[in-house]
Amino acid sequence: MEKIGVVGAGAMGMGIAQVAARAGHQVVVYDQMPEARTKAANALEISLNQLVSKEKMTTDAKNSVINNIVFATNYQPFAACNLVIEAVVESIEVKKQVFQNLENFVSDACILATNTSSLSVTSIAAACAKPERFVGLHFFNPATLMPLVEVIPALQSLQNHVQFSYDLMLKWGKCPVLAKDTPGFIVNRIARPYYGESIKILEENIASAKNIDAAMRNLGFKMGPFELMDFIGHDVNYAVTQSVFAAFFFDRRYLPSHTQQRLVEAGYLGRKSNRGFYEYPQSKAELTNFHATPQTKYIQERILAMLINEACEAVYLQIANEPDIELAMTKGVNYPKGLFAWAAEKGYKYWLTVLQDLQKKYADTRYRPSILLQNLAE
Ligand code: NAI
Repeated sequence: MEKIGVVGAGAMGMGIAQVAARAGHQVVVYDQMPEARTKAANALEISLNQLVSKEKMTTDAKNSVINNIVFATNYQPFAACNLVIEAVVESIEVKKQVFQNLENFVSDACILATNTSSLSVTSIAAACAKPERFVGLHFFNPATLMPLVEVIPALQSLQNHVQFSYDLMLKWGKCPVLAKDTPGFIVNRIARPYYGESIKILEENIASAKNIDAAMRNLGFKMGPFELMDFIGHDVNYAVTQSVFAAFFFDRRYLPSHTQQRLVEAGYLGRKSNRGFYEYPQSKAELTNFHATPQTKYIQERILAMLINEACEAVYLQIANEPDIELAMTKGVNYPKGLFAWAAEKGYKYWLTVLQDLQKKYADTRYRPSILLQNLAE
């Protein structure tokens, strides 16, 4: 069994460590903050105890996970690791520094991986002495529950390291998909309109946040876009939107909104600050007790058309193949259906027309239909 290293004992690092430990690996976790290590060890014990008390895990399994995870106070124990996954703060400078330090300790055979959700894997790899052993492994939160892992080769990655990482994710019971190293990879790219187009509909006063949420829930989404943004946190969601927008050289499809910017400025970050688009604690009753309004179909189709268009564009630009995109959106963000399966129900021509109507109305490149969507419609 390979020995796995994890750098960063935050939410993601500890989730990944648990997944590896449950798969039977010895895991060494390093965090530069001693209090983060203590907090992580305590939180691990509490969450495993909860699983045991709910009979979702046996006491033996709990003990073996705890025994498999050791906390390190420096990088020395990483010398025995075959794979190290980094999950420190989302800063390219900090991540580059971590890998440069790590490379002084790990063996030549060790594969290095980053869990970044928005930075260039290639750029982090370039800071390494051996960039060919570098790969992106993007887990979703919570890593113990979410099956998707986006496997992102850097431009410099050796194919056998990519394959090893992909196969290992399968062994861990995960659902790996291959994604090209482009902003947002698969999920965080294709899901942008779920937030952006919804906010635009709100700004245009076509419907309230509650009505838009209700419309999308009615389509089968577990959460409407506004409750989801409140859940994610506007600071996080706005930062990702801004970074994707800049990374796509300011393509209007990914335009951030003043509405969300103001929420962040006001400190209305969503659930964590008891106020975002909604005030908390909030009753779910009204959302689930949904009554269609005259705008419901328009809202659903406008957002869905934009999502389908993004999925088509991602295939067209070889970001990922169609089956992997279907898996990514259903396993990574729990979409009720794959976007291609959804598009096929009414036919591609239908969705092309929705986009063409929007493009005509708004005279905005934001609504330009993907070449692939046009080809499929033909
Ligand atoms: P977090 O803030 O919960 O944890 C980060 C940990 O890294 C902290 O404990 C911190 O003390 C430690 N750290 C910071 N600098 C360090 C260094 N130089 N050396 C060692 N440890 C250091 O962050 P979270 O949410 O776990 O995210 C970690 C990474 O995972 C980020 O790159 C993030 O973008 C990515 N990610 C986050 C997801 C999420 O939903 N939170 C989902 C997928 C990826």
